[in-house]
Amino acid sequence: MLKGRSLLTWFEWTKVEIRFLLDVAKQLKAENKPQQRFAGKTLALLFEKRSTRTRCAFETAFGEEGGHPVFLSTTDIQLGAKESIEDTARVLGRMFSAIQFRGYKQSTVETLFKYSGVPVYNGLTDDFHPTQALADIMTLEEYCGTAPGKKLAFIGDGRNNVARSLVVICAKLGVHIMIITPPALNPDPVLLSRCKPIAAESGATITVTADPAAVAGADAIYTDVWTSMGEESKKAERAALLQPYQVNQSLMEKTGRQDTIFLHCLPAVKGEEVTAEVIDGPQSRAWDEAENRKWTIKAILLATLMD
Ligand code: CP
Ligand code: NVA
Repeated sequence: MLKGRSLLTWFEWTKVEIRFLLDVAKQLKAENKPQQRFAGKTLALLFEKRSTRTRCAFETAFGEEGGHPVFLSTTDIQLGAKESIEDTARVLGRMFSAIQFRGYKQSTVETLFKYSGVPVYNGLTDDFHPTQALADIMTLEEYCGTAPGKKLAFIGDGRNNVARSLVVICAKLGVHIMIITPPALNPDPVLLSRCKPIAAESGATITVTADPAAVAGADAIYTDVWTSMGEESKKAERAALLQPYQVNQSLMEKTGRQDTIFLHCLPAVKGEEVTAEVIDGPQSRAWDEAENRKWTIKAILLATLMD
């Protein structure tokens, strides 16, 4: 049973459990029929960083089922400022059915999990963005068929939270993941060595390369901003490093396929990591992917809050 479970990284979920969430999300999207399933429940939405999709997906998924989401930014509440994260967790756990956290340190979401006693969902930290990765796989499956054996090429900042979560979920589900990035931005070797045995079991491969031509044959090309939230001082350095990794029409053509889809977690900086031609073009599924945040988050909430 998944009731009471938290989502911190995907490492703590099995392939079968993730598959179950994807199937629930697909069913919810097909039905599109809210049923007051969260009536009487409450959800604390803690945000240290800005958000459009994640906040709106949690608020709409929970609220349209009769639940009461409460948005709390760090200008509203004590979160490690005048009160420890442990104590905030203890108090929120007495009042809320569950907690979502978006912010800087992975250790904050882990502390909320340890001390609150209620399900905690990671809505993005510096290290991981797990709810995003589930929506990404749902979108891949909508357009390319079931995930195992598919080829997903992430090109851009290979060490960021989105790339890291994709490596974990692809390793779990048997998706071949390529991280195409300059060596200076290679994913953390500790993360890779943790994922390799998981990939060996699922049949996935994890490839890290600096060569954009590695997109050949990919079912999906994925990119994200070159400068993540909290790293604004690195903007010029990243632009210089990542210019050869821009997703433009010529890169899309390097797959050698016309049915390769383009994915982006959004928000996008058009003209940097992706051209407007690609993200607003016929191969882009970025807008479906944004919508799928809501269905996958509703599936996570249903699975972890209901009997
Ligand atoms: N993709 C994503 O997490 O978007 P937001 O930052 O708008 O929540
Ligand atoms: N890597 C980006 C993702 C935003 C959804 C960031 O952390 O800013």
